Amino acid sequence: MTQMLLSTAVACATVAAVAAAVMVWQKFHKHSHCDQALVLLYEFRHACATPLYVLRHISEHVALEMQAGLNQPGGSQLMMLPTFIEKLPNGCEKGLFYALDLSGTNFRVLRCLLGGPNARVIKQEYEVVAIPRALLLGTSEELFDFIAQRLISFIKLEGPEFQRGHNWNGHQIRELGLTISFPICQTSHNTGILIKWTEGFKIADGVGKDVVAMLQSAMDRQKGFQIRVAVLINDTVGTMAGGHYWNDDVMVGVILGTNTNACYVECNLPEDIQTKSGKMVNIPFYTLPVIYMEWGRFWSSHLPRTYIDEQLDNESVNPGDRGFEKMTGAMYLDQTDRVVRAEDCAQRLRHSDHAGCSASSSIHCGYLEENRAGWLGCDRC
Ligand SMILES: *[C@@H]1O[C@H](CO)[C@@H](O)[C@H](O)[C@H]1NC(C)=O
Ligand SMILES: *[C@@H]1O[C@H](CO)[C@@H](O)[C@H](O)[C@H]1NC(C)=O
Repeated sequence: MTQMLLSTAVACATVAAVAAAVMVWQKFHKHSHCDQALVLLYEFRHACATPLYVLRHISEHVALEMQAGLNQPGGSQLMMLPTFIEKLPNGCEKGLFYALDLSGTNFRVLRCLLGGPNARVIKQEYEVVAIPRALLLGTSEELFDFIAQRLISFIKLEGPEFQRGHNWNGHQIRELGLTISFPICQTSHNTGILIKWTEGFKIADGVGKDVVAMLQSAMDRQKGFQIRVAVLINDTVGTMAGGHYWNDDVMVGVILGTNTNACYVECNLPEDIQTKSGKMVNIPFYTLPVIYMEWGRFWSSHLPRTYIDEQLDNESVNPGDRGFEKMTGAMYLDQTDRVVRAEDCAQRLRHSDHAGCSASSSIHCGYLEENRAGWLGCDRC
């Protein structure tokens, strides 16, 4: 059942990509002088097509890979990792909770007062903090000290309405949930070993250390408030937990953003499943086994791969890897745009029309929204 839902999600991701192509095509239609570009986009749309039978083939392939990954660690393109999450929120939670989301060069701190099944989210406040450039190149201690400082300043602004029903005496420990988008190897619900710094961070140390411990000791160095990192979760699992809070039928979390990822609750789990490192993990019978799929790595010959996807992959730093992500992630829009421009130029050169060729310029992710008409140098055709 869950696999069916997930398969539907794969189909949706694919359809989203196709819909984007169609939208661009429709915009172009207005510029009828851009025949060349139109033909190119028409071909692109055709190559991207995902009729129902294609979606079914893709779904079946995903389901097969999921089963293979569950049966045998490393036996599939999908990682199928256990997440150590034992239960998901269901709306009965009460009290004050803090969260820290460290993804990219900003982080977000949030406080939330939960009032149980009837009141639900009584009040929440958050703050987005930009990490100063210098800290991206510093030490892990400097980075976590900065985060801890800003977190404590945020806690100091906690209004009395958040303290309802609590007898805060200044010594009570506040609990924090942590989400980190760097690759980490999670070993329990509140330990995660940093595999590498990504997203613009070039910090010399910290790799191989536990991110929760690093944050916890930075916060312990700050005086005044006691705060404890209660749980570390992936943004994908966080998304599912957030959905489950409102509706306990929610069993799947899917991220469709800069990259793509999915997790779900597996009801037919073999008794022992192994982590990638080969260590046995016993999932106690009472736990909800949340499986983190890492499906950006998925690849199937049924996916509608165009020459653009192929060239983008050839020119990437990891050819042959993360095929599904490269076809759906917003992170690759820039390169997709460049490859299409280059092809447009090549075709124009073939027709001895040198006008307005610039294959080297790049876009940021919002570009397609902001400047569709300028795409492919259309104004200059
Ligand atoms: C969490 O998910 C993000 C993307 O959604 C991924 O880049 C990252 O590697 C994941 N972290 C872990 C611990 O698997
Ligand atoms: C990508 O690389 C493969 C193998 O090197 C090559 O056969 C193929 O033509 C390339 N495709 C594109 C579109 O550049």
